[in-house]
Amino acid sequence: MRGWMVLVLAVLLPALANAVELPHYAKATHLGVTSCAGSTCHGAQEPFKTSNVLQNEYTTWLRQDPHAKAYKVLLNDLSKRIARNLGLPDAHTAKVCLDCHADNVAAAQRGRQFQLTDGVGCEACHGGGSTWLGIHISGASHADNVKAGMYPTDDPVARAELCLSCHYGNDRKFVSHRLMGAGHPRIGFELDTFTATQPAHFAIDKDYVERKGRQNSVQVWAIGQAMALAKTMDLMLDPEVGTSGLFPELVFFDCHACHHPMSDLKWNPRPSTGLGPGMIKLNDANAIMLRIAAARAAPELARSLGEKMRGLHRAVTQNREETRRLAGEIRTLSRQLVGVFGKRDFGAEDMRALLAGIAASGNGGDFFDYAVAEQATMAIGSILSAMRAGGHVPEDGYKRMNDALQRMFAAVAKDEAFRPGTYRAALRDFEQTIPR
Ligand code: HEC
Ligand code: HEC
Ligand code: HEC
Ligand code: HEC
Repeated sequence: MRGWMVLVLAVLLPALANAVELPHYAKATHLGVTSCAGSTCHGAQEPFKTSNVLQNEYTTWLRQDPHAKAYKVLLNDLSKRIARNLGLPDAHTAKVCLDCHADNVAAAQRGRQFQLTDGVGCEACHGGGSTWLGIHISGASHADNVKAGMYPTDDPVARAELCLSCHYGNDRKFVSHRLMGAGHPRIGFELDTFTATQPAHFAIDKDYVERKGRQNSVQVWAIGQAMALAKTMDLMLDPEVGTSGLFPELVFFDCHACHHPMSDLKWNPRPSTGLGPGMIKLNDANAIMLRIAAARAAPELARSLGEKMRGLHRAVTQNREETRRLAGEIRTLSRQLVGVFGKRDFGAEDMRALLAGIAASGNGGDFFDYAVAEQATMAIGSILSAMRAGGHVPEDGYKRMNDALQRMFAAVAKDEAFRPGTYRAALRDFEQTIPR
């Protein structure tokens, strides 16, 4: 194959790999949570000892998973306020809300037991059951289920596409600054951390690995960052979403650059932006994390990403054409990195280097902004759980690192109470615990 063909394929392949239709938009009928919840299916009270899967997934979802309450949220006072401010009759009947807070497929695709009030149910993530439930209950393999239309949630690229469709948005549903201005909370997301805190209703044990392959938290994290940045660029370039009149959509920017008291003088130079004081600043948290991950797996691309991001920060304040050009290039670069990370087996050395890279970025002044500090903290959490799962850190070492990490989580617990100084001190303490 000629060199350029390899290059073209390298760019196209990751895009093809995630071409599976999202559960929300595929044509299958959604049968409803009840049809998964039988006590010998996924509705057991306790995990089955003799089964491959836990079989109490429904119980976990119902009792602990916020997705089970996603519809009910639309009936609370905050939702009433948001609906009123947007001029909607009700939040719980508005498509704009239901598209993310429930499994809002077309009426013709709702089975007999389907209930909108179930919120984000099994099939909102695993895909409408009509095409695969038959072979699934007679014991088909995961690969065969997926071939029949089950959504491949085990594939990190497909999972990122799925979660981000609600935890960031796409060209058909999006929490714009207009929704936030009406009162919708800020949205932050990290693929690996959120998979764990959902909470996970699956266990990555020996048979999981045999059935579905190994899962490496660091790989999931890195792919999640690349997908999030690609998605942001997609939406910035989208003619419907990208602008609100004269201005670019404000959600792409650092919320706290605008939203903080003027007496709280907090500006500091940020090396990755190159911007001076008094400038509007993109939320570049995913880009910073992605550059750190890329520095380990593809240093040339990391350098290029850093340069293009600095260019984009500048262009946004100056020139719309240049902004579009750079956003397109950053999107291509992010997709390329998805491919690179997909093939990378991140090992112990990589994990230590990534932690050191994050600490260096923080010490260099990039974590003054809340959104970046929040992503850095979740990144460290993912890397640490991968180190532990891989047996790369002794248990007492893990405990020391995790204690220090918990202090970092405390420092980002509330965006409005964020103090960069406190955070940096916690990061320095964490740095001391990284094994050499
Ligand atoms: C693009 C998807 C999306 C859309 C559209 C959307 N939301 Fe949300 N909403 C979310 C996500 C994701 C969260 C959880 C954010 C988090 O905590 O990380 C959330 C959180 C909320 C919360 C806070 C819930 C809590 O437990 O405190 C309320 C209230 C809410 N949304 C109401 C609405 C209303 C009303 C609408 C329609 C006007 C709406 N949302 C539209 C995705 C969406
Ligand atoms: C917010 C998305 C989401 C929802 C809602 C959801 N799941 Fe999952 N589920 C996942 C992810 C992610 C995984 C892990 C990746 C994988 O193995 O597919 C998973 C894994 C599973 C597994 C596989 C476990 C294994 O060992 O192979 C089962 C079974 C399962 N879910 C059942 C359910 C049931 C039943 C419901 C509804 C009660 C449900 N899920 C709701 C995202 C979701
Ligand atoms: C159909 C839309 C939708 C999809 C798909 C989806 N989510 Fe959510 N998610 C929500 C909404 C809405 C909420 C807020 C619910 C609430 O507050 O009650 C939420 C809440 C969460 C929370 C709790 C956040 C917090 O701040 O406490 C986690 C964790 C989470 N989702 C993880 C995931 C993961 C991981 C995936 C992909 C496997 C995923 N979600 C896919 C809509 C979705
Ligand atoms: C470029 C500056 C800018 C950025 C960036 C920005 N906002 Fe805003 N925001 C505004 C302005 C201007 C208003 C309208 C204020 C008014 O009506 O008094 C507003 C209003 C709001 C309100 C309603 C406040 C009220 O008093 O009711 C919320 C909530 C909000 N924004 C959240 C966010 C979030 C979350 C982000 C980040 C995703 C964000 N904003 C990014 C400028 C910004």
